[in-house]
Amino acid sequence: MTSLLIAIDGPAASGKGTLARRLADYYHLPHLDTGLTYRAVAWDLLRNGQSLDDEASAIEAGRHVDLSNLDKHALSAHGVGEAASRVAVIPELRRILVDKQRDFARQPGGAVLDGRDIGTVVAPEADVKLYITASPEVRAQRRLRDIEGRGGSADVSEILADIRRRDERDMGRADSPLKPAADAHLLDTSDMSIEAAFRAARAIVDGML
Ligand code: C5P
Repeated sequence: MTSLLIAIDGPAASGKGTLARRLADYYHLPHLDTGLTYRAVAWDLLRNGQSLDDEASAIEAGRHVDLSNLDKHALSAHGVGEAASRVAVIPELRRILVDKQRDFARQPGGAVLDGRDIGTVVAPEADVKLYITASPEVRAQRRLRDIEGRGGSADVSEILADIRRRDERDMGRADSPLKPAADAHLLDTSDMSIEAAFRAARAIVDGML
């Protein structure tokens, strides 16, 4: 196969981001974390003191999102993911960001994109679709370890409540809800190490080549 497009979807803290990066490295493909595009919009509104419900400003911010200049550090800040899921319900904003994501997906040679609607909306033509899940409890524990690993502290029950709220919003919205594409391979990583999940994902991709 001269070109390989891999679509990865899944809920918050499922491990899809880590898997996407590892697969992109392994297959020498460019990678786009599409969550960063929604985070960039939310961050723009927060930074300028604008409301997350201000659709016109969110749409304007969406037009200015530059895929080659996404500040991963600022965008990973606490609260930005939650804010991103609030602006991500705006259909006109989604259309603008999805267009940019599709341009990225169309590069010669292929790409790896991860998000919530890659296999269903952004790149339904993808060669391989993975849907990564893990139980909310396991995802909360992983997020806690991440935070602690960076020297922070947090309450696991608050993280769990956050994760459940985000799942509900992402799976329940009318436009492009989070769900596996009909032809996605499901990978439940609840009882898997990152290494084991990576091996399983690679086996699925290799099986499609
Ligand atoms: O993946 P991440 O947690 O960074 O995404 C932040 C939020 O952006 C998600 O909770 C979701 O609401 C939104 N998002 C989306 N579609 C994508 C990627 C992210 O709606 N493809």
